[in-house]
Amino acid sequence: MTRVTMAERPRRLRQSARVRQMVAETRLSPTDLIYPLFVRPGQGEARPIHSMPGQHQWSVDRLLGEVGRAIGAGVGAVMLFGIPATKDAQGSAIHDPHGVVPSAVRHLKDAYPDLVVMVDLCLCDYTDHGHCGILTPDGRVDNDATVDRLATAATLFAEAGADVVAPSDMMDGRVAAIRSALDGAGHMDTLVLSYAVKYASGFYAPFREAAENRPQFGDRRGYQMDVANAREALREARLDLAEGADLLMVKPALSSLDILARLAPIVDRPLAAYQVSGEYSQIMAAAERGWLDERTAALETLLAIRRAGASVILTYFAVKVAQWLSE
Ligand code: PBG
Repeated sequence: MTRVTMAERPRRLRQSARVRQMVAETRLSPTDLIYPLFVRPGQGEARPIHSMPGQHQWSVDRLLGEVGRAIGAGVGAVMLFGIPATKDAQGSAIHDPHGVVPSAVRHLKDAYPDLVVMVDLCLCDYTDHGHCGILTPDGRVDNDATVDRLATAATLFAEAGADVVAPSDMMDGRVAAIRSALDGAGHMDTLVLSYAVKYASGFYAPFREAAENRPQFGDRRGYQMDVANAREALREARLDLAEGADLLMVKPALSSLDILARLAPIVDRPLAAYQVSGEYSQIMAAAERGWLDERTAALETLLAIRRAGASVILTYFAVKVAQWLSE
């Protein structure tokens, strides 16, 4: 039988694992991953988060052990969310230098000086109404008053030793205010990772159980972006770059691959993506039922997020992925 000679036989590049590995255009490495963690007051606490199987709210002492495990697996960075002892309308607990987050930062940097410690900077974990800012008398989020409080909180977190502050509030002008507050307090080397493109998303639902910050009324559409908009994402990114953000983040990740792909060629700073709670939980829930394979699905989504243009990924799979990659 004479065979057709074909110039194009792409399958030649898929013939063995070795060849496939050699020509892989995108790779995952534990050093690209940031592990988000929830810190609560108390001692000896590791409270499972029901809607995020495998994830916990940690007291600071237990957090140290969990982070040690992450470092052991090769993860080099964490993002901390705080669940304060008390909440009020102003989110005052964010200004407590002895609060759960500053204390977690100090302990982590003491125990693991090389760990990159990031702190999520937003009022919603600290307000009793659950919104990401303080409210005007008519119940709307007051942009400028919120920005002031975030800028002060950023200096406190930097003081405690945070390497990176990550504003996730979506107020206008907060990156510039945070940068100038940090510089004014002598924290010139503290990085700002801005949640630049953050959509109002149903995929944050499990996180709201984890951080105990579900809005008590209304929703976050007055400050988070409308999923319908892509050009607006370019605008948000441009503003945060101009205001001095060191890294930009897009979230959720999997439903924003087009945004990552648009931003990657035009943003001259590292681009991060957040594989959010709902993206994690849907894989975990389906895997628990045997409907898909956790490892295959998790690695596939993370690789796709890298392929779209993210250089860094925040993911609740961080420790597992780091372990899988070293097998
Ligand atoms: C708080 C914040 C949220 C997330 C990160 N920071 C929730 C929200 O905006 O409602 C979501 C993370 C996740 O779902 O894993 N501003």
